[in-house]
Amino acid sequence: MPGAIYAEGLVKTFGDVRALDGVDLDVPEGTVLGLLGPNGAGKTTTVRVLTTLLRPDSGKAVVAGIDVLKHPNEVRRAIGLSGQFAAVDEYLTGRENLQMVGQLYQMRSKAAKARADELLERFNLADAADRTAKTYSGGMRRRLDLAAALVVSPPVMFMDEPTTGLDPRNRQQLWGIIQELVAGGTTLLLTTQYLEEADHLAHDICVVDHGKVIARGTSDQLKARTGGERVEVVVHERDHMATAREVLAGFGKGETSVEEHTRKLTVPVSGGAKLLAEVIRELDGRGIEIDDIGLRRPTLDDVFISLTGHAAERITEENGDGAAAADTTGRKAARKEAAK
Ligand SMILES: Nc1ncnc2c1ncn2[C@@H]1O[C@H](COP(=O)(O)OP(=O)(O)O)[C@@H](O)[C@H]1O
Ligand SMILES: [Mg+2]
Repeated sequence: MPGAIYAEGLVKTFGDVRALDGVDLDVPEGTVLGLLGPNGAGKTTTVRVLTTLLRPDSGKAVVAGIDVLKHPNEVRRAIGLSGQFAAVDEYLTGRENLQMVGQLYQMRSKAAKARADELLERFNLADAADRTAKTYSGGMRRRLDLAAALVVSPPVMFMDEPTTGLDPRNRQQLWGIIQELVAGGTTLLLTTQYLEEADHLAHDICVVDHGKVIARGTSDQLKARTGGERVEVVVHERDHMATAREVLAGFGKGETSVEEHTRKLTVPVSGGAKLLAEVIRELDGRGIEIDDIGLRRPTLDDVFISLTGHAAERITEENGDGAAAADTTGRKAARKEAAK
């Protein structure tokens, strides 16, 4: 029995770019799939195909039990979409934007008004409800965009990089909102460039690159493939390295590696910040002076390097059109380079 979002062998080419090169997905009802990958990997194209905005060259897609290629209109009624391509009208107020979506879905105007008010309240936009979206900050826009996708409480939702370009506070806030939504039973496909985000929100993760799913699993499984969490210590005195190594061995769940010339020791651990505090206490108790210590978690780059042998290209600024365009050219150049 296929899940709430199902895709098989999706292929989409743009000229000589294979944006999707045989993507398979299966997202069980009520779960969150994180589609994780760098710029140009094919995330948005996947979302556009699954949300009926783009026809694939070949492949099959079923969303909420409905065939995407055969019955696009019915699929549209069953889903919500937020992100890079979702429509927030700059010249309408927050309230008008939400009411307009309700009207598009043929809600009665009274019901659309009530729903708009409820969402504005819930997304902390009530105070800004009557200002045009043009005056909103990045974080407010994202919240409005997400609210717009929720006007009709769809059972299946798609979010394309919902937090790219947001500051950490706004990102946290949005994570909270997304978690609430999922707790309510929504099936969600979320794209992101941040392992941390997929880690936080997704049950399963598909890592995509060059239009292909190159790895899938839970975040723990992916991290384990990259070596997982590590404690790194730089001791002050070379003479203390042996003792430090002993201490770390007591906390580690694997071999401690030692870099003599930098006096750096690294050990794989699990237990996060709490464990780090214990390591510090123990080193201190043994009179070992440390120059630096930290918990290192695998990043998307670590995952990528470990899976593909190359680093993920990533753009961190607000993902405006300029950034997207610049990226497209960058990727093309990189591909040409690789094809040589
Ligand atoms: N409309 C389009 N025309 C031409 N190329 C496109 C178009 N949309 C996407 N692409 C290309 O397809 C690839 C995948 O793009 P996209 O799905 O937007 O990646 P992501 O969302 O992961 O950054 C990129 O190489 C991109 O340049
Ligand atoms: Mg994209």
